[in-house]
Amino acid sequence: MQFSKSVIEVIKERTSWRTFLNKAMGNNLRNDLEQILELNDIDSPFKTQGGNPRFQLISIPDFNPEENVKIGTYGFIKGAQEFIAGATNIAEYNLENYGYIFEAIILAATDLNLGTCWLGGTFNRSQFSDFIQLKSDERIPAVSPVGYPTSRRLKEKFIRSISKAKLRKPWELVFFNGDFNSQIEQDEIGKYKTILEMVRIGPSAGNKQPWRILKEKEQNIFHFFVKFSDDKKLSSYNQFVRLDIGIAVCHFDLTAKELGIKGKWEFKEPNIERPKELKYTISWKGQ
Ligand SMILES: Cc1cc2nc3c(=O)[nH]c(=O)nc-3n(C[C@H](O)[C@H](O)[C@H](O)COP(=O)(O)O)c2cc1C
Repeated sequence: MQFSKSVIEVIKERTSWRTFLNKAMGNNLRNDLEQILELNDIDSPFKTQGGNPRFQLISIPDFNPEENVKIGTYGFIKGAQEFIAGATNIAEYNLENYGYIFEAIILAATDLNLGTCWLGGTFNRSQFSDFIQLKSDERIPAVSPVGYPTSRRLKEKFIRSISKAKLRKPWELVFFNGDFNSQIEQDEIGKYKTILEMVRIGPSAGNKQPWRILKEKEQNIFHFFVKFSDDKKLSSYNQFVRLDIGIAVCHFDLTAKELGIKGKWEFKEPNIERPKELKYTISWKGQ
């Protein structure tokens, strides 16, 4: 993917934005975004078993003028004139694939200085289904407003404080060395430190950060797992963890590519003892 600056900077800059200027995007920006949504430039490791995702830019004037867009997002988003919405059919890795691709789109929009916010829950699915003429075998995993950000309103600040949106889990809770009881020493893994840090600071539903990455000892092989929650209060987030791991893989992949660190993705579950709530997704093997 082409960014105007380092993707590491773009990943650091990205933050969920829920308050927008009431102003439609200029034609140049629209064209740039529509180009990105053609996906020619996005290469997800899940693509062969990732279904057929498609994405579309929706303008608010397309909404029924009687309806306030606030209804479409239950008041979570204010002022947005445009949304990126997508759909995918059923496939083994359709949600991981959607997560990877949608995050790549979000980063590209961030690079264009546009505000975005992953919405997996707080949007009106039936309204958005109409807009993108959802087919019977398709689902909409997530959408995002896209537009000119303006100062966060009080309600948005409240939403952010509830999910502790700025905080992330420390290294030792998400990255492991050889087994799930041993930690990775940050200073002993060279450039991989930056790659893992870009995974760590990624967005996730409810900021739950369900990714767990296990590095093989003495080898540059990284296994990606997701943590499902069996806590009743948190189990509603389980529907999003496959999107979240797609985001983690996206950040790892784009950062490694930018740093010129070569490797390949493979589906080869390691024979390593692990907590039962962890599910294996994919591995990256350095070359
Ligand atoms: C898969 C996914 C689904 C999300 N769904 C919602 C949502 O429905 N409503 C919302 O306000 N934020 C949603 N978010 C945004 C998260 O709350 C946000 O990414 C997290 O709190 C971290 O904050 P940040 O994005 O500013 O770094 C979602 C994020 C992801 C990755």
